[in-house]
Formats: sequence, C-alpha cells, structure tokens
Amino acid sequence: MKPRIPYTRPSITEAEVRAATDAARDGWGDRCYEDLQRFERGFAAHLGVRHAIATSSCTGAIHLGMAALGIGDGDEVILADTNWIASAAPIVHLGARPVFVDIDPESWCIDPAAAERAITPRTKAIVAVHLYGNLCDMDALRAIGARRGIPVIEDAAEAIGSVWHGRRAGSMGRFGTFSFHGTKTITTGEGGMLVTDDDALAELATTLSNHGRARGQVKQFWPDMLGFKFKMSNVQAAIGCAQLARVEELVARKRAILDGYRRRLEGTNGIALNPEPAGTVNGAWMPTAVFDRSTGVTRERLQAAFAVENVDARVFFHPLSSLPMFTPCPRNRNAWDIPGRAINLPSFHDITEDEQDRVAAVLRDCLHG
Ligand SMILES: Cc1ncc(COP(=O)(O)O)c(C=O)c1O
Repeated sequence: MKPRIPYTRPSITEAEVRAATDAARDGWGDRCYEDLQRFERGFAAHLGVRHAIATSSCTGAIHLGMAALGIGDGDEVILADTNWIASAAPIVHLGARPVFVDIDPESWCIDPAAAERAITPRTKAIVAVHLYGNLCDMDALRAIGARRGIPVIEDAAEAIGSVWHGRRAGSMGRFGTFSFHGTKTITTGEGGMLVTDDDALAELATTLSNHGRARGQVKQFWPDMLGFKFKMSNVQAAIGCAQLARVEELVARKRAILDGYRRRLEGTNGIALNPEPAGTVNGAWMPTAVFDRSTGVTRERLQAAFAVENVDARVFFHPLSSLPMFTPCPRNRNAWDIPGRAINLPSFHDITEDEQDRVAAVLRDCLHG
C-alpha cells in the first residue's frame, strides 16, 4: 500500500516547543497570565480589533458571546444548514432555537436572502460561518443586520487569513470567534478566541468567561453573576504566540496548497474548488472539491477511491438539520445536495508536490472512472 497522506497535521517548529517549555517552567505565580495577555494583544492587533479574549475552544467563545448578547429562552438564531455542530450547540444550550437556512451554491456559505426571509420577531442574531476559509457575503449580511436591527456574528473558526474587501474575517461582526484546535491553521491544541470592537460586550464576556467574576473585583470569591469556565491556559497561549508570529507564513502555505490543487486541475471540467471572488482573500483552511451534478461523482465513490489510495479525505459537512437532534429541512436544497458530491482534501503544511499529485490524480480518476 502507498504511504498514507493525512488530511491535516499542525506545523510545530522549535519556536513553539521553546515557548511551551518556557511557559511550563516559568509561567506561574505572578507570570501566570503573561503569555495569555500577549496572545490576546497580538491576536487583536493581527485582526485590527479592540478586544480579544482567549477561550478554551471556539465552541466556548461562541457560547460566551451569545450569552453576553443575552440570547436565551425562546429566542431564534439564524445560521446556515451547512456547518459544524459547534456553531449550533451553544444556541440550544442557551435555550434558543437554531433556524437553519440554505447556503449559496458558489460560496457554500449562508445565503443572505434566505437568512433575511427567516427573520421573525424572535430572531436575536445571524451567524456568518466562513466555511473552509470561504467568505460569507458580509456586505449583504451586515446590510440586513443594520436594516432589521439584528446583530451579525462571525464564526471565523476556519477563516484565519481570509479577508473580505480589506477587512479580516472575524473583525466585521458584533463579535467574531476563532478556533485553535489541532486541525486549524494556527493551533494551541485546543483553544479559541472571541474578538469584538464592542467594549461593553468584551467586558461582559470577560466576566462570564471567569465564572461571572468581574475584573478588579474587591470582594474575593464573589461571582457577580452565573458564568462559565471557558479560559485558555497560559501554556497553550505560549504556543499560540509562537504560532501567531508565523501567521503570514502559515496562511501563505495554505494558500499555496490550494493553488497547487487549482493548477493540477486546470482544464479539468466538472470540479469546483474553494472560490476567491474579486476583492477577497481566501485563507484556504480546507481545500475542498465539489463535483458538478452532471459528473455523477458521489461522496461514496470519492471516499472509496481515496481509501484505496491511502489518502485521508474528509466528508463535506452533513446538513445540521439532517442530524438526529434537529428537524430535517430538506428545502435547504444546496446544503442537502452539495455534500453528496464533495470532499475535503489534505492540506497540512508539509504536504509534498508528489502527495498533491496523488490527491489530484484520485480526483481526476473519479471523474473518468
Ligand atoms: C465553523 C466552526 N465553528 C466552530 C468550531 C469549533 O471549534 P472548537 O473545536 O475550537 O470548539 C469549528 C471546529 O471545527 C468549526 O469548524
């Protein structure tokens, strides 16, 4: 059997190892927040936002931000049916209802017109998930939000390095969230970040993230409100600082890998890769191939072909509304159709030209086989 090609693997250099070792040795006592605060400041500067709050995961950051927005019992939150469940679970845990709408067939992200049609008096937010590094139409979503008085939240877990007309993904919504899970472009193992320009929201989220204990609290061990424990550790943040110092390199490499697939598939009809419309930059977290319906190529055929070649390929997200805990919404036609003819491709930092050749060959063979 040919050597296995994994779909993802972080890029960890001696700089990250040194940072983690230093934090493990010295980052305690008076210095226990040193790397954490450095990571938050650095991330805020990278994004061009006023506040960044490091969390234990992106799921936690979403939960925290939504709680700080006051989302709760009986409320509705609109999001695309195509998503990882992490964007939806916090809505349910807060007592609100996720309202799943269709995706745009080109961007694979939320269809703004569908989002607007789903608004009711109970709608408390619209979540823009930038899928696989692709960007939601933020102009349309922000215009709807402004017109209807509804905050737009950005889940930019998959969109470090993506830019919408000069503004970084995650920096345009009422708040944005990021993931530093081991599969992401920047990793801390597990971890996340909530970012916002809203001073009051940032303060409340900071308090909520630490069991409701406000900063500068005088009375010890006296939570002012019921909160959560969604903090990141200093050792993780030290790794995050070392990764953040390499963000341009890490994103450039992701983009080069996507470009490498694009070049290899040039002239091959019937396969669409992640789009990059004029005026945008795709951070290319997860190169993905979507086959035209006319090709007849299915997810199952793709999975079988990749398995034979010993290449890890990941299925495109199932529609959330098809999962057992939700009510099916097959009227979300694109969200229900595209995953059946799509596949995520390997894109780890050190992937070789030969390995990319092998992946592209599987795609081409499926088309002709
Ligand atoms: C779009 C999206 N949102 C949220 C998350 C959750 O991230 P985490 O695993 O850090 O909680 C992920 C992670 O895969 C994701 O892809």
